[in-house]
Amino acid sequence: MPKQLTVMNILVLGSGGREHTFAWKLAQSPRCKELFVAPGNSGTNDIATNLNISVTDFEAIKNCVLKHKIDMVVVGPEDPLVLGIHDYFSKDAALKHVLIIGPQQKAAQLEGSKEFAKQFLIKHNIPTAAYQSFTKNTLEAGYEFLEKLQPPYVLKADGLAAGKGVLIIDNLDEAKQELKQMLVDAKFGKASQTVVIEEFLDGIELSCFVLTDGKNYKILPTAKDYKRIGEGDTGLNTGGMGAVSPVPFADKDFMHKIEERIVKPTINGLKEDGIPYQGFIFIGLIKVGNDPKVIEYNVRMGDPETEVVLPRLKTDLVELFKSFKDQSLNTISLEIDNKAATTIMLVSGGYPESYEKGKLINGIPNVSDSLVFHAGASIQNNTIVTSGGRVLAVTSFGDSYEEAIKKSYQSIEKISFDKMYYRKDIGFDL
Ligand code: AMP
Ligand code: GLY
Repeated sequence: MPKQLTVMNILVLGSGGREHTFAWKLAQSPRCKELFVAPGNSGTNDIATNLNISVTDFEAIKNCVLKHKIDMVVVGPEDPLVLGIHDYFSKDAALKHVLIIGPQQKAAQLEGSKEFAKQFLIKHNIPTAAYQSFTKNTLEAGYEFLEKLQPPYVLKADGLAAGKGVLIIDNLDEAKQELKQMLVDAKFGKASQTVVIEEFLDGIELSCFVLTDGKNYKILPTAKDYKRIGEGDTGLNTGGMGAVSPVPFADKDFMHKIEERIVKPTINGLKEDGIPYQGFIFIGLIKVGNDPKVIEYNVRMGDPETEVVLPRLKTDLVELFKSFKDQSLNTISLEIDNKAATTIMLVSGGYPESYEKGKLINGIPNVSDSLVFHAGASIQNNTIVTSGGRVLAVTSFGDSYEEAIKKSYQSIEKISFDKMYYRKDIGFDL
């Protein structure tokens, strides 16, 4: 008789394109019994049960987990991790059997505090930009440090600031003014009580994703996202307007450098410092000359990077996650599709500034050559309408990234909503 698979009820926390992609991938696993997403969106509604609770309402999450006999919680965004959802579960007798995919609170500081991340990087000799950090009481020293640096000046609010806390400024006087606004005038609230000032690194960015059970690790496909709203990487920063995987310039040699100089010291550093970590590590990198340097850590997957990384993963995701229970990730081999994947974000006109919601979205069922992951989209009166800035991510495969991008753009022709906008140059710099 064939061995019976252990099946699990799974809850995904979040409501973006990343979470729709997680749900899509988890739903394909024979090990996934019932799938829930909280709060979810119109895309997750098709493949899972959406639960109308906030990702930071731990008590409500606890009640749902008990009610639906959930065995595993996959945490999409950083907020619940930085607020300690992993520890909340492990400290509660009724919840501690539940497997949490996402790191413990101490580890989540790698994203929750830029200062903590910089200290970790320096301590473990991981290549990164030189830096110093300042508070209100050391404002004058901050000015002096800025005077010693070459422009542009990189100022980072220490804490979470919804992706807005990094300023890159060309002019010294302006940099000083901004530093004062961050430290003294609380420009980013508590998040900018401490400010990290660092050396500007000039190069091309990419991201490396690592899955770790705290003991072993697997390197997932690389990806590159496009953060600015305007073509040619101009205009305001967004959550991400598109992504490509793999990154063509991250060849074998370069990946070897990333693994030896960055991934291994990161995993070993966590162990050495007694910081348990079970989940994804998203390492933001910049290629300076031929060498990778770390720009930042995130303690979750990227969005829209997930929309190109997970579709290329052939291995059963539930099986990978399940191995965290006994730290046996090393016993599973990763299978990655050789094809390139790209995703293009369709956003609401006006985003990342103010935009209108509730616009009817047409044409999704007409798309057959691409995967359409829903982000800021929800169901109203049985129709799909926009409910956020980033609305849909259109992912395609190809033998090359050029071919994949072409397919996404062809699929996008079939989709429309009032004031829809997207970048037409994703991949332009590769
Ligand atoms: P972060 O939130 O740390 O990822 O920073 C946001 C963006 O600012 C990054 O994706 C980079 O484009 C840019 N950035 C951050 N730090 C530096 C740096 N030291 N040199 C150049 N660009 C940087
Ligand atoms: N796309 C960048 C991020 O998820 O932080």
